[in-house]
Amino acid sequence: MELRPATAADLPFLIEMLLEACNWDGTPWYDEVKVRADENAWRYLADWPRATDFGVVAEADGVPAGAAWARLVRGYGYVADDVPELTLGVSPAHRRQGVARAVLSELIAQARAASYKRLSLSVDPDNPARTLYESLGFLKVGVVGTSDTMVLDL
Ligand SMILES: CC(C)(COP(=O)(O)OP(=O)(O)OC[C@H]1O[C@@H](n2cnc3c(N)ncnc32)[C@H](O)[C@@H]1OP(=O)(O)O)[C@@H](O)C(=O)NCCC(=O)NCCS
Repeated sequence: MELRPATAADLPFLIEMLLEACNWDGTPWYDEVKVRADENAWRYLADWPRATDFGVVAEADGVPAGAAWARLVRGYGYVADDVPELTLGVSPAHRRQGVARAVLSELIAQARAASYKRLSLSVDPDNPARTLYESLGFLKVGVVGTSDTMVLDL
């Protein structure tokens, strides 16, 4: 597996990963048309990449396998204007091989290098991603709807 910064050319793959996150429980709530039309979902990728966006793509044998990216956005996991919120997804064929842990660890390093003090996210309490976030030090700071807001102090 190789990690590299996410670029403008990664938008189609990031859309795929955003759909994985939106449909995390296996129910196909969203497709690309619907995700682009839903401002609450599309705010995570609208105008990608903005100047303050940053992200990581993992490739396996030259094929994108997973990604994590973060942006300053008033999303579900919003805590403050200066705290980027992250999105994470791994292609079904590449799961349980450490891809999510790798891209997230690199994203955290990018956030530190950019001098951010915190990273936030929103996750359903039943999503297995929650265990990963906890293991990396994210703490629950609130609840929005049925999802937990979690924050990592960098
Ligand atoms: C959640 C997701 C990102 C995990 O990706 P992954 O590459 O398979 O995860 P990793 O192999 O790096 O696993 C990291 C940790 O996550 C947890 N985890 C991941 N998948 C899990 C599963 N199906 N069941 C239980 N724990 C799981 C484990 O704690 C694991 O650590 P371990 O391997 O030491 O047990 C992936 O399943 C996915 O893309 N899901 C849909 C999108 C999504 O839910 N994104 C997050 C939205 S908040």
